[in-house]
Amino acid sequence: MKTKKAITEIIRKRYSCRTYSSRPVENELKDQLEQFLADSPAGPFGSRSRFELIMATDEDRDALKGLGTYWFIKDPAGFIVSAIRQSPKNLEDFGYVMERNILYATDLGLGTCWLGGSFTRSTFAKKIGTGEDETLPAVASVGHMAPKMGMVEKAIRWGAGAGSGFRA
Ligand SMILES: Cc1cc2nc3c(=O)[nH]c(=O)nc-3n(C[C@H](O)[C@H](O)[C@H](O)COP(=O)(O)O)c2cc1C
Repeated sequence: MKTKKAITEIIRKRYSCRTYSSRPVENELKDQLEQFLADSPAGPFGSRSRFELIMATDEDRDALKGLGTYWFIKDPAGFIVSAIRQSPKNLEDFGYVMERNILYATDLGLGTCWLGGSFTRSTFAKKIGTGEDETLPAVASVGHMAPKMGMVEKAIRWGAGAGSGFRA
């Protein structure tokens, strides 16, 4: 994986961002992330996950609200949505490759947050048209980080025992 910054720096910089800025994600960044997802390799145990980037257009940011993230995520520009098929260690493979996506988005300067529980699985599954043999293990919100964390985000971080979060 080619990154602009050293991977250790990217890992230190990443935190779960739940409050996004209204600044739209530039087309160039969107295209780079989309291409990265399309080129996703198999995980270390050999299974492949499918990833799609769902982004709101500048005019309809509210369109994403109907997907459902239980108020945990404020104003994301989009989501990385995933689908996997049943196979041995498919979740391990998925977790590895999804974290790779998260770190790549961090290197692009974008905020992200893994959502394995606080999202409405059925609406996201419908959005990417999961097949009968596919399940949707998790999604990740993406977008430019807001300059300040919202109160809900601070409360969630406190509840999860997370650190204060790092802002560049
Ligand atoms: C597999 C996985 C699933 C997660 N699911 C959720 C979730 O459903 N909702 C949420 O708000 N955060 C979720 N998180 C984010 C964690 O709460 C977060 O990583 C943790 O609080 C540590 O904070 P940090 O990521 O800022 O270091 C998830 C993280 C991982 C790795």
